[in-house]
Amino acid sequence: MSTAIQDLKEGVVLAELGGYGNGPYCAAHGANAALAMMGTYIVDSGDDVPYPKEFVFKPDRSVYAPYLREHIAAGHSGDTRIGVSVATVQLSHTLEFLATAEEAGADYVSLCAHSSMEMFIKERLGEAMCRRENAAILKEWAVAIINAVTVPVIFKIGLTDPVDTVDAINILTGVGVPIIHINVDQTHQGSNGLHFLEQLTGRCQCLIIGGGIQNIDDARRVLDARANAVAIGTAAMRDPALCASIQRALRYGKSH
Ligand SMILES: Cc1cc2nc3c(=O)[nH]c(=O)nc-3n(C[C@H](O)[C@H](O)[C@H](O)COP(=O)(O)O)c2cc1C
Repeated sequence: MSTAIQDLKEGVVLAELGGYGNGPYCAAHGANAALAMMGTYIVDSGDDVPYPKEFVFKPDRSVYAPYLREHIAAGHSGDTRIGVSVATVQLSHTLEFLATAEEAGADYVSLCAHSSMEMFIKERLGEAMCRRENAAILKEWAVAIINAVTVPVIFKIGLTDPVDTVDAINILTGVGVPIIHINVDQTHQGSNGLHFLEQLTGRCQCLIIGGGIQNIDDARRVLDARANAVAIGTAAMRDPALCASIQRALRYGKSH
């Protein structure tokens, strides 16, 4: 197992937040976490993407390459590894963007495969990609992404139908995707998310789980249910020091 994957174990991941999660945000809110995710960036040739402008690019490498270099460098100043997340309707755009992110210094790249935005669903992408009837598309995208970069690949998926989600995980791990991030919505005691997590033990090299994690107890509960790492979005937005303090507590048993 590569160090980059091993290093996520018992780690805190600053979850991607479209409209917020650029390089400086990752440095400030993801400092000393195991990983901070930039994006999700949408690459699309149209003009009507319903998303914050700074996070939308035309499929033009000459425009987004300098942005990625600048923001990944800014993210690294927070002493954390930086991942870049993308969503596109054309596979070729995803491949070019993620390969450019790797060249620009990204330590991980990720496909956002849990979006419920219509522009993706109508193309059988986003969360539709992880439904059983679209298994061939999921496999095609996963194989292509794995072959386009050398850094570890993360697929971020949702939890719509648990059977479909387990099938999707099996497809992804079968073609060599090392890291799966599942946004399970809720992870409190007795939640569907936590219950589902217990069925997933040992299915992939590294499983990141997020959804409602706000403090060290939440994080420990999710790791105790056999996730390898926890992702934090909303709570880390409110408290920039949260990821670092939970990370310290998980690894060294200290909360300050
Ligand atoms: C304002 C906001 C923007 C988000 N943008 C993205 C995004 O662009 N890509 C993505 O994969 N998830 C996105 N998410 C989902 C978060 O990354 C995270 O998975 C989700 O909020 C659950 O974690 P939390 O309960 O800790 O917030 C967003 C969430 C919020 C609140």
